[in-house]
Amino acid sequence: MAESFGADAERYDRARPGYPAALVERIAAASPGPSVLDVGCGTGIAARQFQAAGCRVLGVDPDVRMADLARQSGVEVEVAAFETWDPAGRAFDAVIAGQAWHWVDPVAGAAKAAQVLRPGGRLAVFWNAFQPPLSLGEAFAGVYRQVMPDLPNVWAGPILDAYLMMCGKAADGIRQAGAFGGPEQWRFGWDRLYTRGEWLEQVPTFGGYIQLPPARLEDLLAGIGTAIDAVGGSFTMHYTTVAVTAARLGLRLP
Ligand SMILES: C[S@@+](CC[C@H](N)C(=O)[O-])C[C@H]1O[C@@H](n2cnc3c(N)ncnc32)[C@H](O)[C@@H]1O
Repeated sequence: MAESFGADAERYDRARPGYPAALVERIAAASPGPSVLDVGCGTGIAARQFQAAGCRVLGVDPDVRMADLARQSGVEVEVAAFETWDPAGRAFDAVIAGQAWHWVDPVAGAAKAAQVLRPGGRLAVFWNAFQPPLSLGEAFAGVYRQVMPDLPNVWAGPILDAYLMMCGKAADGIRQAGAFGGPEQWRFGWDRLYTRGEWLEQVPTFGGYIQLPPARLEDLLAGIGTAIDAVGGSFTMHYTTVAVTAARLGLRLP
């Protein structure tokens, strides 16, 4: 499932939202220099934002289709899973991961980040948690219950909770690595207006959806489309970008 995103990398790059400028600026400001390693860089959505903020970015991603698209947009990428990637002695001021750290082993990943970060370097892993207006969320929950009854239904409750669980796992991994100061959580709230078409374009980019039987995906999109039509054809999604971050201690790892 972790490598399903590249099945339609162009759609992914078009449809997925970026990250708030305030997050990018805060990570860059809290890092001791401009060299950034973007773990699970995908098509380069976060990488390009860090480049625009003056950083020098290297991406690592196991999916060659995502990596190719990132390269076309000017991001240098090495194709590998982070846990087994060979840093070849290179060191970075920041290690970031946008929507990707849950695909990486949180303990091995934090240890690998510690290995490549300079003392004082910053690990920052972050996710865009989304929350539609209450009544639309309930309508989406109904559609998912009907079309995908066998899968967990995030729409049925506060979606941020699912992301906070991932944050908890990331923080535990960082503590276990034993090479970082205490992990902090940073949150940034923002809103984005979606038309029916814009949201329906994004839905198939969710992890694993591209592997759904086509008729099921069609039913899902039809149900979601009807729910959006019922509220006037567009809606405002509230996003909370939540980051777990810690600074590399100035100690040498054994
Ligand atoms: C949801 S995408 C996020 C892409 C990009 N960071 C963004 O913000 O849009 C997750 C990415 O993590 C990559 N990935 C999966 N397992 C990984 C691993 N073990 N190490 C590094 N990247 C991984 C996938 O190939 C995919 O490109």
